[in-house]
Amino acid sequence: MTTPLSISYTSEETKKAALDFANKHDYPCNNQASTSTSLNLNYTDEYVELKDNNKNISIHIDFLAGDLAHRQQFGGGRGQSIAKAIGLKQGVKPPYVIDATAGLAKDAYVLACLGCPVTLLERSPVIAELINDAIRRAKYDEHFQSIVKTGFKVIAESSIDYLTRLIEKSKSDYPDVIYLDPMYPDRKKSASVKKNMQILQVLLGKDPDTEELLNISLKAAKKRVVVKRPKGAANLSDIKPTYQVNSKKTRYDIYIVQK
Ligand SMILES: C[S@@+](CC[C@H](N)C(=O)[O-])C[C@H]1O[C@@H](n2cnc3c(N)ncnc32)[C@H](O)[C@@H]1O
Repeated sequence: MTTPLSISYTSEETKKAALDFANKHDYPCNNQASTSTSLNLNYTDEYVELKDNNKNISIHIDFLAGDLAHRQQFGGGRGQSIAKAIGLKQGVKPPYVIDATAGLAKDAYVLACLGCPVTLLERSPVIAELINDAIRRAKYDEHFQSIVKTGFKVIAESSIDYLTRLIEKSKSDYPDVIYLDPMYPDRKKSASVKKNMQILQVLLGKDPDTEELLNISLKAAKKRVVVKRPKGAANLSDIKPTYQVNSKKTRYDIYIVQK
């Protein structure tokens, strides 16, 4: 059963954008003051946020402040485990990455800050709207403009559908790397991800088709598929990764593919 969600707005300025999204995706739309669903996508004058009204928590994405900006400035560059996992090397052009489970775009943004062109695939239109809102707000920032120029675009679609179409095309269109970080039901909750993950769990539940996603990714990547897992979690399927990169709380399973 999916959790009831509605769209809301806080002012006349944000009403049109809220109504457009609601009509496109067939959600009810109200003024914030009259929202009765447990979750709502709320268009404020500052940003679009996802609210859990039962727990009284909300999330929005900001590429220019908080965690993401800090990581961009002080994040450890190529020494980070994620950089090693995608095979980033000094003096070699950063790989083109498809992040097939974009979520709140944290990992995609880290990869973009490392110089990778990134296509973000997200099947939840609500989550894709949070990312697109953050992109709209960041677009006047000089550093962010260079990221967009290199390649940072969101496609609100199932990755399985997108990659199925991609493998029918020329291999030259394939990404070097496909990055996967599916929802993990027993994911350990560190203080910084707790609120985000709580809301994502309420909205999305767990991802039931991760094995299928891994299989299609192995066909569509030119060089490697990288799967992010919490330490100690089972592999996504019986196919063994070629090797693993470990960090404090996270394990990256690397599947090298030969094309
Ligand atoms: C754990 S979150 C990813 C978090 C992300 N790595 C980040 O840094 O914010 C998983 C996301 O993948 C999305 N997802 C899972 N399977 C998908 C699929 N087959 N196609 C598109 N999106 C998918 C879910 O909707 C969810 O938003």
